[in-house]
Amino acid sequence: MPKQPIEWQRKNEHIFLAEKYYQKHNPFFDEMRLMPVSIPNIALDQVDIHTAWKQQQADGPLYINAMTGGAPQTIAINQKLATLAATLKIPLAVGSMSNYLKYPAEAEIRHSYTIVRESNPHGIIWANVSAHTPWPDAQKCIDLIQADALQVHLNAAQETIMPEGDSNFVWQENLRQILKHISVPVIIKEVGFGMTAQTVQQLQELGAKVIDISGRGGTNFAQIENTRNHQKDYQFLNDWGLTTLESLLDTQKFQSQSCILASGGIRSPLDVIKCLVLGAHAVGIAAPVLHLLEHQGLAATTKHFAQWLEQIRELMALLGCHNCQELQQVDYRLSANLQNFLTSRT
Ligand code: FNR
Repeated sequence: MPKQPIEWQRKNEHIFLAEKYYQKHNPFFDEMRLMPVSIPNIALDQVDIHTAWKQQQADGPLYINAMTGGAPQTIAINQKLATLAATLKIPLAVGSMSNYLKYPAEAEIRHSYTIVRESNPHGIIWANVSAHTPWPDAQKCIDLIQADALQVHLNAAQETIMPEGDSNFVWQENLRQILKHISVPVIIKEVGFGMTAQTVQQLQELGAKVIDISGRGGTNFAQIENTRNHQKDYQFLNDWGLTTLESLLDTQKFQSQSCILASGGIRSPLDVIKCLVLGAHAVGIAAPVLHLLEHQGLAATTKHFAQWLEQIRELMALLGCHNCQELQQVDYRLSANLQNFLTSRT
């Protein structure tokens, strides 16, 4: 095979390394315990797990978060992700579309994104761009796949460690322009380093209505880029950022002003429920989907996540909740560690 540009190779390396470091369990979620309800006073068929926020409808409070596209090898993966999302009737985000903007005439690169719409013509699909993408380019990405929303990723820590990274983080005015001009809902997201209350407040001031705090505890782009970067050692950044629970707790007082989404290290239906209890409107999964697709194929992956949706419903019944909103009334306790973090921030 001829040597591919570094931007294409990077996509394959991310997939390989995310899988290499994949962990089935995220211990950070053990720091929150839900209080049991012995008389839930509800029947399973009274629980409604459908979600709808900012015109994004789904058969459950889940979405498949941005992963890939932009290299010929990613076409097959995106086709499977789109088929999975279509069957489960949940939203799917494509990975960063910067390679489409850089190589617009490359048929395979375009196809690695358009395959998602071809395989899931009526589903909810999200485009994905970086924070320095000018809004007319972001609109081109949306148009290419007829996206229902646009994700804009904030990945300063990743860019710092990435060997070919761009350390110009002057993003604020561009974000304001994207939020002002883009025709579909815009989701500002982290990539697994979490967000503080200050960041969420700043994004709200710029006009953000939907924010995915994507916290630490799952896919770790510090670790991934450290493995790719042989020139400089940034191992000291491997624990950078806030966990998903820390981010949700920290941002709680700003949650009423925007729609908060949670992702980063979601590894079980109970993790999903905990995020919903802390105010998330929906919860994103990335690496677990890739992991199962690689090891068990599409049919088993579909069965697995269909079971997650059933188990989310069962957990809601166990907690006596008719819908996702009611989960916000569920009683919980935090570990001393998490409680200390919360106290230190208020
Ligand atoms: C990602 N993620 C990501 N996010 C983004 O906004 N644009 C992107 O291009 C990518 N690329 C990407 C590739 C791979 C292989 C993975 C696994 C992840 C980040 C992703 O959307 C999510 O924020 C984090 O991965 C945390 O979720 P998980 O993986 O712990 O469930």
